[in-house]
Amino acid sequence: MSSADRLPPLRRRIVAVSLAAGALLFLLAGGLVVFLSWSILWEDWNAVLDDISAPLAAAHARIGGDPAAMSDAFRETLGFYGADVSLLLAAPDGSPLLRAGDLDGPSARRTRPVLRIRETPLEGGARLRVTLDVSDERRILVRVAGIMVGAFLLALLLGGLSADWLARRFVRSLGNVSDAAARIRSGEWSARVVPTRESREIALLEDAFNTMCDRNERTLGELKTLTDDIAHDLRTPLTRLRAAAELSAMGGALPEPLPDLVCEQTADMLDLVNTLLDISRAGCRLDGTPPEPIDLRAFLQETADLYSALLEDRRLRLDLDLPSAPLRIPAHRDRLQRIVGNLLDNAIKFTPDGGTIGLALAPADGGVRLEVADTGRGIAPADLPHIYRRFWRADTSRTLPGNGLGLALVQALVRSAGGTIDCDSAPGRGTRFGIYLPVPPP
Ligand SMILES: Nc1ncnc2c1ncn2[C@@H]1O[C@H](COP(=O)(O)OP(=O)(O)O)[C@@H](O)[C@H]1O
Ligand SMILES: [Mg+2]
Repeated sequence: MSSADRLPPLRRRIVAVSLAAGALLFLLAGGLVVFLSWSILWEDWNAVLDDISAPLAAAHARIGGDPAAMSDAFRETLGFYGADVSLLLAAPDGSPLLRAGDLDGPSARRTRPVLRIRETPLEGGARLRVTLDVSDERRILVRVAGIMVGAFLLALLLGGLSADWLARRFVRSLGNVSDAAARIRSGEWSARVVPTRESREIALLEDAFNTMCDRNERTLGELKTLTDDIAHDLRTPLTRLRAAAELSAMGGALPEPLPDLVCEQTADMLDLVNTLLDISRAGCRLDGTPPEPIDLRAFLQETADLYSALLEDRRLRLDLDLPSAPLRIPAHRDRLQRIVGNLLDNAIKFTPDGGTIGLALAPADGGVRLEVADTGRGIAPADLPHIYRRFWRADTSRTLPGNGLGLALVQALVRSAGGTIDCDSAPGRGTRFGIYLPVPPP
């Protein structure tokens, strides 16, 4: 049993909380209504008892307590208030002197009338007792309370049903997401949520989940291709080394000395592994060394000088287009060297002897633009979207030295500096790589 199984189901919880909230609200509202109604009635009854008692007590004082004279006042009061009132004049010893109405006493007209009684002491020790029948009002109040309870039960039932309906839809949407997650966990990478789009929030969750899965699946695919490519690229030099070692062990003759071969092949492998590490590091922006101010004009001039012998060797003309004044930006010299070096290496590699290589620098919108151009073989339009992928090389380039990591590294380094790279190429006519590097505000 997992820890999730011990938790109460969400649907039951939502219904229980809705019912409890509804019941609490009813108890508060209903209690308030009954309390207010009762206190209004209570004040009303007290006012009626006052209205009856006060004039009768005044009359008793005026006529000196004569029961015969009081009976007129009693009759008049009863004539006004009807059968809902009874009056009793009692002697100081409690014995009845005068009675009117039949609410209390021996001939009470109802079996269990609900009564409010007010006793008023009179002059000479006598007492006046006024009895008011309030059973009608109480019955109405009880009926209203009964209707309220009925309505409450109905509302509770409807509220519970609609809360359950809502909760079921909500839980079904969540269930879809957790089902898809469970399928992915068990290795079914293509599993996705079937969108229910119950609400905006659910739709956002479903879309976010599916987008995340798409991205994960793509990344996994890329990772697998990358691993395959790495394995493939390492296998060739390793196989060559092993074959040479076996041949040497058997005393066979090698085309070149074994140490030279080992140095050559391991250098290639090291280069491949180091470039891969550099790409990852640039992608994660792990290297936190602060940039230093670099004069790009001087830097490109130095680079051109460095390449002059190779260019001459290949009878390539260098077209250098630099600004007249120094152009200083905060940057990392080693990264600039790798960016420009890789682009120049490609330009030279893919341009036939006698061609032209261009190197240009100019200030651009909030930064600088650096261009490396050539008049070489160019890149087919269908290939352009792939050139920055690790290990990608055009079919026509496979016979030339390289491992297909140069442009991937250039792009990662440019991006890590907050810049962009673009490529413009026409097969047979040449290629131009443009790099924009922003100058961060001081
Ligand atoms: N200047 C260029 N002219 C023609 N093709 C190029 C140029 N630069 C890059 N490419 C194409 O892009 C591919 C990837 O370049 P890169 O990552 O530097 O790998 P590599 O140089 O090791 O082949 C190259 O193999 C080539 O097909
Ligand atoms: Mg290259």
